[in-house]
Amino acid sequence: MKIFLDTANVADIKKWSHMGIIDGVTTNPSHLSKEGGNPVEIIKEIMKILPHGEISVEVTEKDPMAVYEQAKKIAALGNNILVKVPCASEYYDIINKLVQENVKLNITLVFTLIQSLMMCKLGVTYISPFIGRLNDIDEDGIEVLHEIKYMQTQYDFSTGILAASIRTVDQFHGTIDAGVDAVTLSAETLEKAVKHPLTEQGMEKFDADWKKLGIKKFP
Ligand code: G3P
Repeated sequence: MKIFLDTANVADIKKWSHMGIIDGVTTNPSHLSKEGGNPVEIIKEIMKILPHGEISVEVTEKDPMAVYEQAKKIAALGNNILVKVPCASEYYDIINKLVQENVKLNITLVFTLIQSLMMCKLGVTYISPFIGRLNDIDEDGIEVLHEIKYMQTQYDFSTGILAASIRTVDQFHGTIDAGVDAVTLSAETLEKAVKHPLTEQGMEKFDADWKKLGIKKFP
């Protein structure tokens, strides 16, 4: 299972990239806007930190032909770039064209099984179902993820499922349980997910007991 950091924050990406568990980064216009500065420079910096990672960069144009042109330019930034295109039916035509031209796409803002099926048929690299935002409208995001996973397996589609809008440790847990190909998380959620109070308490107890022995050199 691939783990991506859902951010454009260079400091967070640097921190987690050294640990060997991060397979890439997913940015979006909100993340880049939050960082300020020149978004192309930020993307280049991220590419330097993770030269072998998969870096998703989203289109910002609206008109389908403008999205197509922009997607090609974004893809040209590097071999490890995936272009995020919203899962809107007016883009199906250009998504199809981009796939034929070997542009790696991460289709974003996916909310239903049927949208997922359409994107799998078009052969995109990833679909990103938004779990937290489904939960926001009282739908069960993880349940939808299970349905999408079942569909992908049932029809043997090559498109990967990248669970996005994951805001809690429970949601992260649910993505693993659903057996998806990848998940994207904020550094904050990842930080919470890898910590357990019993691990910390256990370490303290072992340390206290060990000190009672009074041994200075071991082994
Ligand atoms: O990358 C897109 C996605 O993860 C957004 O999450 O929390 O804004 O719904 P959120």
